[in-house]
Amino acid sequence: MATTTTTTTADGGQLARTLTDVELLRELEPVAEAGLNQHLATTKDWSPHDYVPWSDGANYAAAGGREWDVDDSGISDLARVAMITNLLTEDNLPSYHRAIAESFTVDDAWGAWVNRWTVEENRHGTALRDYLVVTRAVDPVELERARMLQVTAGFSPGQQGQGTVGPESMLDTLVYVTFQELATRVSHRNTGRACDEPIADQLLKRVSADENLHMIFYRGVGAAALDLSPDRAIRAICRILSSFQMPGFSIPNFRRNAVKIAVGGIYDLRQHLDEVIMPVLRYWRIFERDDFTGEGLRLRDELAVFIAYTEVEADRFDESKARYLERDARKAQRLSARSSSQPV
Ligand SMILES: [Fe+2]
Ligand SMILES: [Fe+2]
Repeated sequence: MATTTTTTTADGGQLARTLTDVELLRELEPVAEAGLNQHLATTKDWSPHDYVPWSDGANYAAAGGREWDVDDSGISDLARVAMITNLLTEDNLPSYHRAIAESFTVDDAWGAWVNRWTVEENRHGTALRDYLVVTRAVDPVELERARMLQVTAGFSPGQQGQGTVGPESMLDTLVYVTFQELATRVSHRNTGRACDEPIADQLLKRVSADENLHMIFYRGVGAAALDLSPDRAIRAICRILSSFQMPGFSIPNFRRNAVKIAVGGIYDLRQHLDEVIMPVLRYWRIFERDDFTGEGLRLRDELAVFIAYTEVEADRFDESKARYLERDARKAQRLSARSSSQPV
């Protein structure tokens, strides 16, 4: 496969030029088709209703029952925050569908993938919402209010004051979704563990298995894109990784909750580097390839510097997290000593 294509000029000469997005999509279409077929052969069908303990449910006030109370929730504050963040992230599906349909088109195998992916993602939101509302794990009024805000704001990186970098090419989108699917897999899996409840754990295991298969599709097409146009692909990788934000970054209180989620071990910089960035870069053999040239080689060096810097930042975060947890444990000890010495 070739990095560039040639155009015949008016005087009959040949002019080498970089492939356009349309040409990249056409070249990669057989890879997308093979990836889709592989996905359909591997994925397991499942139903959201199988992961909801319906008999634990009760009517809310409007139907003659009672409103939600924080004491109803059988999961920790950390699990609640993570569950809400994960669900609101899934809820913004209309924006993601639009973004990937614009980048990948709705034609041929690309369109079939976009629709298949959308229907699977929709299942995630349905399953999580049913579970949370039936078990009264989170405040449903707050959840609905946040969903309205989140979906109304949409997901438009680089626009409407959201983040600084938006996708400029289909390669940017392809690279973003590869890392994002893997990040979501890690986050769902750890949220399931944090719930400390077997049905939630099973549900989130199931969802994270889907996210993994989505990542495998995008990672496979990404590998072909690197072979086809290595210098353009490495530019997309550098651009996306150096500004990476989870799609939920527009959720109300996202920053504050992201700190809780990181300190709680659901998703932090160390996991982002070790479980998301590095496995994909290794799969793509970024640091072993010999097909980068000029600007591509310079960008790979830049990527190495970025990884080294992220490594230092991750160490720093690990240390401050350890100090914070120590302080927190001492405080809890002091409080329990004080309450046991109080006269009854
Ligand atoms: Fe999902
Ligand atoms: Fe996914």
